Amino acid sequence: MKEFLHTSNPRKLTLVSALALSMAIASATSWAREANTKLTAPTSTAATHNYDYEMNVFHPVQAANGMVATEQNLASQIGLEILKNGGNAVDAAVAIGFSLAVSLPNAGNIGGGGFMLVHDAKSNKTVALDFREKAPAAATETMYQDENGEIIPRKSWYTHQAIGVPGTVAGLTKALEQWGSLPLAEVMQPAIDLAEQGYEVSPTMAKLLQVEKDNLGKWPTTKAIFFDGDEPLALGDTLVQKNLAESLKLIAKEGADAFYKGAIAEEIVRDQEAHDGLITKDDLASYEATEREVVRGDYRGYEIVSMPLPSSGGIHIIQILNAMEHLPIKESGVNSAKTISLMAETMKRAYADRSEYLGDSDFVDVPIQELTSKEYAKAIADEVLKGEITPAQEIKPGDLAPYESDQTTHYSVVDKEGNAVAVTYTLNLNFGSGIVAGETGILMNNEMDDFSAKPGVPNAFGLIGGSANAIEAGKRPLSSMTPTMVLKDGKPWLVTGSPGGARIITTVLQQIVNAIDFGMNPAAATNTPRFHHQWLPDELRLEVGFSPDTIQLLENAGYDVSVKPSMGRTQTIQIIDDTMYGYSDPRNPDGSAIGY
Ligand code: DON
Repeated sequence: MKEFLHTSNPRKLTLVSALALSMAIASATSWAREANTKLTAPTSTAATHNYDYEMNVFHPVQAANGMVATEQNLASQIGLEILKNGGNAVDAAVAIGFSLAVSLPNAGNIGGGGFMLVHDAKSNKTVALDFREKAPAAATETMYQDENGEIIPRKSWYTHQAIGVPGTVAGLTKALEQWGSLPLAEVMQPAIDLAEQGYEVSPTMAKLLQVEKDNLGKWPTTKAIFFDGDEPLALGDTLVQKNLAESLKLIAKEGADAFYKGAIAEEIVRDQEAHDGLITKDDLASYEATEREVVRGDYRGYEIVSMPLPSSGGIHIIQILNAMEHLPIKESGVNSAKTISLMAETMKRAYADRSEYLGDSDFVDVPIQELTSKEYAKAIADEVLKGEITPAQEIKPGDLAPYESDQTTHYSVVDKEGNAVAVTYTLNLNFGSGIVAGETGILMNNEMDDFSAKPGVPNAFGLIGGSANAIEAGKRPLSSMTPTMVLKDGKPWLVTGSPGGARIITTVLQQIVNAIDFGMNPAAATNTPRFHHQWLPDELRLEVGFSPDTIQLLENAGYDVSVKPSMGRTQTIQIIDDTMYGYSDPRNPDGSAIGY
């Protein structure tokens, strides 16, 4: 307990936002005092780096030649077939990307955007591909505010103005050109077949369609696809998407130009013009996916490679891990109250920095080096180790998304050559804006909500931003999506990622920490209940599954604990000694990890 009670000099606060500073100096409840009297740190028995089945209750799927993990079994099967037929991990990833647009319409997409990490075994390099949506040229900083400067409720969610210029088609086609080995038409054919022939609505999808009934039902183009009369399709119904199949065929034939310059572009723009949308032909024609350098860090001897800006995820995962190297979480044990507190205090500081400093680095200067430096992390750790709970002041309750499911999706692929791909992509909220663009069959995103519509006003995930993430023509909204790889001896050791909005960063963090610090296989790591703190709102969010004793200790220590449904849906592959261990998060029962 000594380190926990240790009081050191305050960290250098040069990088901390004004609000964070006021928090830091605010009166603090002493967790240490509570902890000192009530807690004995359990000794962790699972703190091993060895892959030891006896320590793990849940078992992952094993394979030697190739593995895919996605949130939708139909897409996993399509990816695996590509691998078995000689395609590489990128071929499979592109096939999965297009097929999830059909089979997981609430999150998989071609009307949205996302990020891809590719580890190329030959060159032993990992690169990042950014296909995040962009603000249309006509977008302005105050476009979601009324004449009094008040946010117009849900304008950035369920209107044509909520839609960012989509990036997925540019991203997937670019990835295939750059690193794939098969023709576009070949990797897209399974998605086309699936859209044409249809598939059965699962219990998960039936529930989502019911929840989003009003948002989807108000657009005739959307209703025509996802409804039978006035009711959303139900469990066991067949979802056929003829128009989407036609759009996919055009892309398969003409490449990305069909979407950005051809018939699909024309139809998107026609639909935008008919509904006061801002996206023009030029916006579409000028969209490009961008290859970027990954962000790198190291944690207890492992190399962390993750997504750079406009994702905040990579930077903050590395920032938090850097600080955690100084925290005795192995001793305090997985999910003990003390471990949760140490990590939550670290998370808070990262999210406070996110709100102040992060935005699209093509538009604003972001102090990436400082945020990911070991020195800064040490200062954070010193503060955290004082053992105090720092309350977040000035909490502004947000207009949070009504249904807290995870609407983004992640998938991971590894092939027999050792190439690895991690993709997280999204429409933002469930089914995005709910708008199918004209006759395209394509559901459009509402990613514009990820901008800071007004300083200090939270977005759908309760995230607050400032000028760095203000709306600007051509800018990409800040994201939390965090496709990540952990490398050991320069080779992928863990490939992972998750949906979950603001909770993506802490979900991926726990997947990594459970593997590295607690020696868990991907299944055990995934099934361990997750927790989350994002500074504002000042709430420690726990999944169902923590013991009442732990919750009581955390509440006694001063946390506002809230137990809520599931957090994240990781799709993880671990590679140890040429064996692949895959696991699809059972928080979505439709997913699967399969290999051969
Ligand atoms: O890019 C982002 O951070 C969000 N648009 C992701 C949305 C998401 O994960 C939805 N799931 N809860």
